[in-house]
Amino acid sequence: MRPKVTIIGAGNTGSATALWLAAKNLCDIVLLDVIPGLAEGKAIDLQDAMPMLGYAATVTGTEDYKLTAHSDVLVITAGSPRKPGMTREDLAQVNAGVVSQAVVEAVKYSPEAVMIVLTNPVDALTYLAFRKSGLPKNQVLGQGGILDSARFQVLLAQELGVSVESVNAFTLGGHGDGMLPMLRQSNVCGVPLQDLIPAEKLKALVERVRNRGTEIVNLLKTGSAAFAPGAALTAMIEAILQNTHRVLPCSAYCEGEFGLSGLYFGVPVQIGRSGVERIVELPLNAEERSALEASAAKVREIISGLSAFLK
Ligand code: 2OP
Repeated sequence: MRPKVTIIGAGNTGSATALWLAAKNLCDIVLLDVIPGLAEGKAIDLQDAMPMLGYAATVTGTEDYKLTAHSDVLVITAGSPRKPGMTREDLAQVNAGVVSQAVVEAVKYSPEAVMIVLTNPVDALTYLAFRKSGLPKNQVLGQGGILDSARFQVLLAQELGVSVESVNAFTLGGHGDGMLPMLRQSNVCGVPLQDLIPAEKLKALVERVRNRGTEIVNLLKTGSAAFAPGAALTAMIEAILQNTHRVLPCSAYCEGEFGLSGLYFGVPVQIGRSGVERIVELPLNAEERSALEASAAKVREIISGLSAFLK
């Protein structure tokens, strides 16, 4: 049997994810949305692309959670994107209700699935999904860090005039303004960034990475990034379905790792068929630790604002 992946939310990100998954021929896909006709329309369109792609993936669109039964992976993209002038945190209250409902319904039909949350503010809403789902911590992850790391890689590659594959760069921390592009641990083919880019320029690039999502929101005016978030989800789904044990920056439940406990937070995660296999820790200096703690404090603050949804 082909693996089955359900994407809840057939907006731009859900649709982009379905497209990347179909193009990689990874699984059958169910696209679900509460807006009548939206998921069905997108699914038919994508199904009709299969002859050109040369694959036989089945793409189903529905409003009915029954059709999501026995999914291997559940992806939660449902909720509102930011508008210009908003932060990701501003979406917490409106998206918490949407995510809670989606999680409870989806888990009823696929209790064995690994769940990935993308809806913003992602770290806090992944925590909410974990609590609402009753699933073990390894089965629930959030996505922000692959996207932030990819943005960092792209900007560094552009600055240096090298291909993105030559850049090893990643971010830790919450998917928000407090994200931490890891300068000491990033390099180009082993050469430290600090040896390649002057400090002031590097600082400006870090700011640009932090603002990349906002930059896109301001340009689009009626939506947020979708292609790269969808590709980030696809990387995680591939690691799960093919049990690759790939280490990717994701939001995972910390219980002592990096000195943090009781929250979902962006850390390097080894991913396999069961979801989170382990969190890979790395040594941090005092400055990095304090930035990490400040980012964690922001995530905790958002989580504490969700208490009404956690009852
Ligand atoms: C972004 O950073 C939507 O949070 C997503 O673009």
